Amino acid sequence: MRGLILSGGKGTRLRPITHTSAKQLIPVANKPVLFYGIEALREAGIREIGLVVGETRAEIRQAVGNGSRWDVAVTYIEQEAPLGLAHAVLISEPFLRDEAFIMYLGDNVLRGGVTELVREFESRRPNAQILLARVPNPEQFGVAELDGGRVRSLVEKPREPRSDLALVGVYMFDHQIFKAVREIKPSARGELEITDAIQWLVDHGFDVAPHVVTGWWKDMGRPEDLLEANRMMLDLLEPRIDGSVDAASRVEFKVVIEPEAEILNSTVRGPAIIGQGSIIRNSFIGPFTSVGPGCRIENCEIEHSIVLEGSRILDLGTRIVDSLIGKDVEVTRHHRRPQAYRLMLGDASRVGLL
Ligand code: G1P
Repeated sequence: MRGLILSGGKGTRLRPITHTSAKQLIPVANKPVLFYGIEALREAGIREIGLVVGETRAEIRQAVGNGSRWDVAVTYIEQEAPLGLAHAVLISEPFLRDEAFIMYLGDNVLRGGVTELVREFESRRPNAQILLARVPNPEQFGVAELDGGRVRSLVEKPREPRSDLALVGVYMFDHQIFKAVREIKPSARGELEITDAIQWLVDHGFDVAPHVVTGWWKDMGRPEDLLEANRMMLDLLEPRIDGSVDAASRVEFKVVIEPEAEILNSTVRGPAIIGQGSIIRNSFIGPFTSVGPGCRIENCEIEHSIVLEGSRILDLGTRIVDSLIGKDVEVTRHHRRPQAYRLMLGDASRVGLL
């Protein structure tokens, strides 16, 4: 089987972070979301991966390269505009040829990987296998209605969902999908929807096998999804201290301290990760926090947050929680008069003040 990972899209709901960075490269537990997908496919034995890229192609190429780091061969497939997931399949036909393939949306994370699912597909060989997960907000996903063990209908982001079964962004197909993506018409949002292509398979009597996943799954739609994925992935880390922790500091529970990071007179309570070369001084880093490389945190308390590369958080009087802080951000306290907030925020930033 071949792999197809989709890594286009604008990530509008994750602005301002996605003003400067592809959504699929946002780190979760200090690793780009996209890398979890590549690793999941590799683990399932897939060595040939097509990576569909759009506007953020340069950045994705730079991060992923030719795939040799994972012992896979990556072929880049250019999508000239975000015309939909089924359009991505259509333009990938020369790469996929008539082999069966797994399509993986580059902003999805499945805790259990895909190895078992690929095995199930290969032994049963339906024309398509879809993954479904129960969610509290089905209107934000493709939604499936089942009838016994069969798929009756699939609707993309319905206003009135007929079930709480969301389509997970991982699909397995044989070559019949190419017929379907040629037949369907663009949706109201102007995209060729994979959901409609799968419905076409159902309507034309092809075998579409549903698989309800019980393990944890998340797509990175909103900032709170990132924090949740971060919690989940931090929890899977093997603790390790490769940086330095001074005698006045405490490191508790599952913590990763990367090389050249320094923990000085501070407490780091896991699950947490401190990136390479970061300095944590007179601070508390609380559970479920990822601090990227090259950060400086002094006289602060941070919990349940993600801080990206090169940011400085200094001398705050209150604890930061539930926050997503971008690259090279500075948050500091001044003692200048007038005593006031001094903000320089990018478009679509959000600040919650006390
Ligand atoms: C896409 C699919 C949707 C699916 C979701 C899973 O939505 O269109 O059916 O439920 O991925 O991540 P999008 O992320 O494009 O809004």
